[in-house]
Amino acid sequence: MGILKINHLLGLEGVSQNDLITILDTANSFRQILERPVKKVPTLRGKTIANLFFENSTRTRVSFELAEKRLSADTVNFSASGSSVSKGETLKDTVRNIEAMKIDMVVCRHSSPGAAKYLTECLDSVIINAGDGSHEHPTQGLLDIMTLREKLGDLEGKKIAIVGDIAFGRVALSNIYGLKTLGADVMVCGPSTLIPRNIEELGVKVSYRVEEAIEFADALNVLRIQLERQNGTGLFPTLREYNRFFGVSKERLKINPDVLILHPGPINRGVELDSDVADGNSSVILEQVTNGVAVRMAVLYLLSGGQEVTDEQI
Ligand code: CP
Repeated sequence: MGILKINHLLGLEGVSQNDLITILDTANSFRQILERPVKKVPTLRGKTIANLFFENSTRTRVSFELAEKRLSADTVNFSASGSSVSKGETLKDTVRNIEAMKIDMVVCRHSSPGAAKYLTECLDSVIINAGDGSHEHPTQGLLDIMTLREKLGDLEGKKIAIVGDIAFGRVALSNIYGLKTLGADVMVCGPSTLIPRNIEELGVKVSYRVEEAIEFADALNVLRIQLERQNGTGLFPTLREYNRFFGVSKERLKINPDVLILHPGPINRGVELDSDVADGNSSVILEQVTNGVAVRMAVLYLLSGGQEVTDEQI
């Protein structure tokens, strides 16, 4: 038995404060390994992890694979493109065949909300959601929170604004659940067409003016406009218009020059975020990416039954 209450990581909804802190503290310990000349420990030797990506990814996929290798697990990578999915094989058949080759854990990205939960019903392996449609992206939420804690300390009462495509961005929901559990004061901001109705019920403030979000926040988590999920539904006139009203620019940040800038990537430069802000002194975007490997090491370790990390393990 591990020390987490959860057996799978499907989302941050319902994950207790205790479990969140355990994952974040474990990630801080593993973070040290990434700074060493030999970035490897034998912790997951003998475990086999399948990374199943039914949707494109750069950061999450490479980050999980590196995390697995840093922990000495055996890994196998599957992409839907080039697989028998193109011959009509179902998700259930695909994953059951891969599990029959004797694996222990599955990391899954899929375009359908609920896909990771569905896998818990088909498989005996531990399931980690690497992004399911517009639902959740829990390890992204965790790495954002790890970076915020590093920069701002305890998040109780800290003001975090999530700006952009709240309706279609899975990062928004995972951030909201995790941040609220840790006591942060959360605002979401974007055009009304990109903010889900009744989102206030999650305990967040809502603003339709990016200037208000910038003024409010200790940190801005700027989200990408998810054009691929909006199906050309015309939720705002043009990308240029979006940038004019909601783009985070150097000029706008004069309202609150010290605000910390996060973005989960990939960035649409010149749309939600201007280049000089993305690459500026207040940006912690690449630190988020580094922390992503540590967070994923922590999640893999703890869900495989790992206990509190000791000095001997790192
Ligand atoms: N942040 C994120 O999930 O990026 P990828 O889509 O490249 O994995």
